[in-house]
Amino acid sequence: MSKPVILITGALTGIGRATALAFAREGARLVVSGRQDAAGQALLAELQALDAEALFIRADVRRDDEVRDLVDQTVAHFGRLDVAVNNAGTEGQRGAITEQTVDSYAAIFETNVLGVLLSMKHELRVMQAQGSGSVINVSSILGHVAAPGTSVYTASKHAVEGLTKAAALEAAAYGARVNAVAPGPVETGMLNRFTGNDENKAGLLSAVPLKRAATPDEIAQTIVFLGSNKAPFLTGQSIVVDGGYSAT
Ligand SMILES: NC(=O)c1ccc[n+]([C@@H]2O[C@H](COP(=O)([O-])OP(=O)(O)OC[C@H]3O[C@@H](n4cnc5c(N)ncnc54)[C@H](OP(=O)(O)O)[C@@H]3O)[C@@H](O)[C@H]2O)c1
Repeated sequence: MSKPVILITGALTGIGRATALAFAREGARLVVSGRQDAAGQALLAELQALDAEALFIRADVRRDDEVRDLVDQTVAHFGRLDVAVNNAGTEGQRGAITEQTVDSYAAIFETNVLGVLLSMKHELRVMQAQGSGSVINVSSILGHVAAPGTSVYTASKHAVEGLTKAAALEAAAYGARVNAVAPGPVETGMLNRFTGNDENKAGLLSAVPLKRAATPDEIAQTIVFLGSNKAPFLTGQSIVVDGGYSAT
């Protein structure tokens, strides 16, 4: 396929940003989405410096109307949607289950679960009409295992895993693929907020067999592979990229 059209949510930082740059280096056309206009324009300039045709569209993934407009504007501009990376996510507040509230639950689930559901709702509508496409949801190793103090985030990523499988079974009927990438610790702002201080971070990373966090680009490369025509029979899967953590 010449110059596939890629849509990425939460594209302005961390894994989303690295994924945008990785797809741009592969010659893709891009829609990068997020909530910060200045960061959006800055990323756009970087993508254009790589000769990528790109758009920034502001959208909050918790809003059905904003996600619908994001997908519709993508198709209005580029005429199609080949790969959608549903990456926007939040770690919320760590804490025991006994400390959780309706608000702490909603703060995580509205972005991590409702956001992925709304994104797939609109992306797959387009891919169904095309008869092709690849969706990649960014899950987490905490979509496969659990850690104390992370119950709501863990539950949200387990939900992403379930949504991915159910959507893959529906989308197979019309030739689209849906997969997840489940990273272990990745060197982004989220990891630093999640661990809180250097000591906690070092403790977490010492449990990773490779003894370090992934770089955002190492996660991006797996996402690019899943979106490429090198993975045509791969659907309904969650690829764990965790430096060996889940093998222990
Ligand atoms: N870093 C890790 O160790 C790790 C491990 C496993 C999985 N993950 C997952 O990887 C994904 C990317 O995270 P990251 O590590 O790259 O952290 P990050 O740099 O904090 O990226 C998260 C991005 O999502 C955006 N976002 C949050 N809520 C949003 C909303 N409601 N609508 C639109 N955008 C929203 C954020 O933008 P704002 O600035 O506007 O909030 C931010 O750009 C997340 O789904 C995360 O759960 C991360």
